[in-house]
Amino acid sequence: MALDLFSPVKLGAITLKNRMVMAPLTRSRAPKGTGVPQDLNVTYYAQRASAGLIVTEATPISAMAHGYILLPGIYTDAQVAGWKRVTEAVHAKGGKIVLQLWHVGRISHPSLLPNNELPVAPSAIQPAGQTYTYEGLADFVEPRALEAAELPGIIAEYVHATKCALAAGFDGVEIHAANGYLLDQFLRDGSNKRTDNYGGSIENRARLLLEVTKAVVDVAGSDKVGVRISPVNPFNDMQDSNPQALFNYVADQLNQFNLAYLHAVEGGIHGGGESASFDFEQMRKLFKGAYMANLAYDKARGNAAIASGHADVIAYGVPFIANPDLVERYKTDASLNEADSETFYGGTEKGYTDYPTLPA
Ligand code: PHB
Repeated sequence: MALDLFSPVKLGAITLKNRMVMAPLTRSRAPKGTGVPQDLNVTYYAQRASAGLIVTEATPISAMAHGYILLPGIYTDAQVAGWKRVTEAVHAKGGKIVLQLWHVGRISHPSLLPNNELPVAPSAIQPAGQTYTYEGLADFVEPRALEAAELPGIIAEYVHATKCALAAGFDGVEIHAANGYLLDQFLRDGSNKRTDNYGGSIENRARLLLEVTKAVVDVAGSDKVGVRISPVNPFNDMQDSNPQALFNYVADQLNQFNLAYLHAVEGGIHGGGESASFDFEQMRKLFKGAYMANLAYDKARGNAAIASGHADVIAYGVPFIANPDLVERYKTDASLNEADSETFYGGTEKGYTDYPTLPA
């Protein structure tokens, strides 16, 4: 029988009961200050445990990795204890869950950082746009360029956060190298103007991602690590002069780690269009491991991508916000709940844990 969304699959060490992945989704419902997941967050993730795999919301790996309000974290003991309740609830319902490791780099604001420090980035280039702070919308600022000597410290933050995620019971971790955040800022030449070993050539710009991946793999085991990229997503003022060459190189280099999966955002998020044309099939063929495709897939396109061999699994975002039982709805061709974008970020259980499931 042809493979489809409902066929089981193994991504590295992680066995999935189906190929529908809940994509990472920022929901901004962790408490200010502590970033410790609460009952509400436990309920939200447990409701979605019928997904083959949940990728958590992007989660800051250190105090300096924060860029938005009300985010959970994965670097303190209290956060580990909070996330442990999430992983236990998901596992109790037969689900699998990996944590997405996040450093936002320049997509932040001093008011969100310890001691009002400047955000850090590959180069001191202020991104166009604004961010939400606890005081309201504020322009992004010109970040401070990281010294090469500071990069081992950044890698150490990824290692510490990975250890925290494993202690919290996650089935693995996903390295967030997409959407204009720190690792993506190093990858793409619109945001990386460095003249040292971490800038200039494609090999140099990919160096930090590959070093982080090696360090995370060394701690977690390669079969528990995924990497997320977004070659042509212009979100967060991002661009690159030759994304095909860059991300073909990245996909090929990542082969050395024997990862659980490569996760690609195949376009621009938040309706932003694409920054360049790109042949995702070409990049996908260069990568020898499992491939997770994301962006505006529905059931038919997801099944087609799996049947053709383009993707092994499909990550669904907005549909999982509004349909905790999305797998069952796709299985039975039931209608879907509409997502309410007003409640995507911040707030209460409204638009978070109160979307109805199909009658039992
Ligand atoms: C967002 O909050 O809009 C957001 C966060 C993380 C991403 C992408 C978008 O990777």
